[in-house]
Amino acid sequence: MNIRIGQGWDNHRIVTGRPLILGGITIPCEFGLEGHSDADVLSHAITDAILGAIAAGDIGMHFPDTDPRWKGAGSLRFLKHACDLAAEAGYTIANVDSTVILERPKLKDFRLVIREALAQTMGLATDQVSVKFKTAERVGPVGEGRSAEAQAAVCLVRSS
Ligand code: C5P
Ligand code: MG
Repeated sequence: MNIRIGQGWDNHRIVTGRPLILGGITIPCEFGLEGHSDADVLSHAITDAILGAIAAGDIGMHFPDTDPRWKGAGSLRFLKHACDLAAEAGYTIANVDSTVILERPKLKDFRLVIREALAQTMGLATDQVSVKFKTAERVGPVGEGRSAEAQAAVCLVRSS
């Protein structure tokens, strides 16, 4: 089979006293996301999408949140690992599409720098990496400012 697709989803609780990191970029904000690693919800969703495309389990299987090695870990490292596994399985990434759902702050001014950081980590061109932002229209846990969510889809093409 020459083409594979994968999808990923993640969710983290909003807390004070932690940084808000999305796609490896620290967003200026008075709150952040709770998690064992750096809680980069966007990188986690993309990592799971890549792992899903090659049927290689999920992020928690590769980087358990009970393992002290991953406490405070930068999640771009997890993303790079998933890309390496995809390459070992004989696939290259054609494109990534993603959405961060967060009520505030406004994220659109950070879109390019986030896309660049993700693309660099994945060994892709910036135009292969899409990052979208949505509010939850004040509905549900995201809309009430209690959590952040991210979704991702990837397309892989067989290269060897
Ligand atoms: O959720 P909604 O459709 O109202 O979002 C409108 C626009 O605001 C989106 O196109 C998105 O680019 C931007 N946005 C943002 N930061 C957020 C949520 C949305 O920049 N946290
Ligand atoms: Mg996560």
